[in-house]
Amino acid sequence: MDVTLIYFSQTGNTRRITETMAEVFRKAGHITRTVSLKKASPQDVVIGDLLGIGTPCFSSQAPTPIKAFLQSLPPLDNKRVFVFATSGGAPGRVLYDLARLLQIKGVDIVGGFLTRGELHHPAPCLHGRMPNRPNAGDFAQARRFATAVIEHVSAGRPGLVAESRPDALKPRWGFYDLVASISTDGFLRLMLPEPKLDPTRCNQCKWCVYECPMHNITLQPYPSLGDQCIRCYRCLTGCPQQAFDANWRLGNLAVWAFYNTTFERWFGDLRPGERIY
Ligand SMILES: Cc1cc2nc3c(=O)[nH]c(=O)nc-3n(C[C@H](O)[C@H](O)[C@H](O)COP(=O)(O)O)c2cc1C
Ligand code: SF4
Ligand code: SF4
Repeated sequence: MDVTLIYFSQTGNTRRITETMAEVFRKAGHITRTVSLKKASPQDVVIGDLLGIGTPCFSSQAPTPIKAFLQSLPPLDNKRVFVFATSGGAPGRVLYDLARLLQIKGVDIVGGFLTRGELHHPAPCLHGRMPNRPNAGDFAQARRFATAVIEHVSAGRPGLVAESRPDALKPRWGFYDLVASISTDGFLRLMLPEPKLDPTRCNQCKWCVYECPMHNITLQPYPSLGDQCIRCYRCLTGCPQQAFDANWRLGNLAVWAFYNTTFERWFGDLRPGERIY
């Protein structure tokens, strides 16, 4: 088989899961390419026999950049595709978002895989949740899933691979699915603080301009944010000079109200005994 894995990843969790799966496909003798969303084109999706699309979960849903990419694709009639994601304890409809947009293009979804990833989010109530995830157990699970996908597709079996998350194809209409539906980019811009630049720290290296997934930062001559921010805070958490900051007094309350540990235990995806901090 010719396999292409396209991933969106900011802090490396989803990329490492992608590489782990790619290794399984390659070891099984399949030609496998991994393509970062930054460099992906519709042509990367069209070629090949099997496609995997991976993303982190943002605000209990798939982030805008990967949704926009999937929406821009041509028809992909009957192409076999699996989706995967990394998240904290409130994945909501992230897998379903990917699967739904791909199904609109006519693909055959063969599986959905979800695992954890450490949060690099500046809101004090979220910062550092899910420490050291994905861990050895998460990578082992990703390998098992990829192996199951190979068997499933090679045998020409219909439907979802048995190891799949059922919510990849069915929305759950749970608490976090509702949170996701109100958390539009516009709502997040209203509720969450905008990263603010301290020009005395900035050395105009352009890293944030390249990394912003919305192409929302321009250098003039210091970084300036446009109106397309999705509050991913990549510019803030990744700037080598720590030149961005945000006022979290109200924002932390808003985030905590929806993403507190108790709610994530009741309505999210936390397993009994799972460590969040
Ligand atoms: C802006 C932002 C929003 C997030 N929102 C959620 C969320 O709603 N639910 C959740 O379970 N995890 C959430 N996370 C956690 C990420 O999904 C998780 O850390 C993921 O592994 C990051 O992947 P990456 O390293 O590939 O970028 C969020 C992280 C960020 C940065
Ligand atoms: S990454 Fe930081 S130092 Fe580099 S241009 Fe952006 S704000 Fe300035
Ligand atoms: S400006 Fe910063 S927070 Fe906004 S989308 Fe770009 S990287 Fe994310």
